[in-house]
Amino acid sequence: MSRRVASVNVPTPVITASSLTKRYGDFTAVDGIDFEVTAGEAFGLLGPNGAGKSTTMRMISAVSRRTSGELSVLGLDPEDYGPEIRSQLGVVPQEDNLDTELTARDNLVIYGRFFGLPRAVCRQRADELLAFAQLEEKAGAKADDLSGGMKRRLTIARGLMNTPQIFMLDEPTTGLDPQARHVLWDRLFRLKEQGTTLVITTHYMDEAEQLCDRLIVVDHGTIMAEGSPAELIRRYSSREVLEVRFGSDRNAAVADDVAAIGALAERVEVLPDRLLVYTADGESALERVIERGLRPTTSLVRRSSLEDVFLRLTGRSLVE
Ligand SMILES: Nc1ncnc2c1ncn2[C@@H]1O[C@H](COP(=O)(O)OP(=O)(O)O)[C@@H](O)[C@H]1O
Ligand SMILES: [Mg+2]
Repeated sequence: MSRRVASVNVPTPVITASSLTKRYGDFTAVDGIDFEVTAGEAFGLLGPNGAGKSTTMRMISAVSRRTSGELSVLGLDPEDYGPEIRSQLGVVPQEDNLDTELTARDNLVIYGRFFGLPRAVCRQRADELLAFAQLEEKAGAKADDLSGGMKRRLTIARGLMNTPQIFMLDEPTTGLDPQARHVLWDRLFRLKEQGTTLVITTHYMDEAEQLCDRLIVVDHGTIMAEGSPAELIRRYSSREVLEVRFGSDRNAAVADDVAAIGALAERVEVLPDRLLVYTADGESALERVIERGLRPTTSLVRRSSLEDVFLRLTGRSLVE
């Protein structure tokens, strides 16, 4: 019988960042962030454009040097072990950088060859991954002729050619239509089910909610909050949100009246087009609003989301 018990229930960090900082001249893009990614989890960086997500991804992927702080990827410092780390990582950059003149299949095979995999292995793996990415019938098509969603799936398949221990995806679905996004989410969800460690950046809160076990909310290079989507919502928002519209010129004017419904309105946010009433019970809050003689033109009760968390933390909407 094995007596090795040390690994039982002890999560292994595969990435550890401590005071991680990146400056471009006087400008600080990543401002001393601390986080840990555990083997097998889907970890997210959620934040608006310019938050420093891609910069962080590039430092982890050993393609950009940090300015200061500590960083360990699979137990190694990217400063000293770039090639070793890159060989264990799958990378899907924010912008597709496929070889547009090559076929889908050759994009995969040639990428595999970069990692020194034998040609036969590359071919077999390319076929498996084309199937995984639902691109079998596009195997012989030029990458340039694929739709945006297909290109993204091909980039994902390419990132898996070296059977990475950590899969890094920088805004995997930005710019795709809703249907293409859902196909992609389904593929990423499968990887997650198979136990692949995922690091995903996104500025879509629904993507973060769908895919991430745990995430950091980043803004201006700093971490605003950290936790699972459910934890973050519990900590920073109410159970429900009542959205009411009174017409764009009246919303701000009635905000105080709406807040006066008392304990049922934990907080009222004024957006240009509507009021958000943070409440434990949206239907009851709406009743109270109407009892006060306020007549919203439309009303909607929904559950709190990460969008509400972001608004609470920064005073801004995630997607402008
Ligand atoms: N090579 C660079 N030189 C100067 N500034 C940069 C460079 N790369 C990124 N930045 C700046 O750093 C900030 C963070 O960028 P980035 O990491 O791409 O953010 P995100 O991926 O969250 O949108 C932005 O303000 C961006 O303009
Ligand atoms: Mg980016």
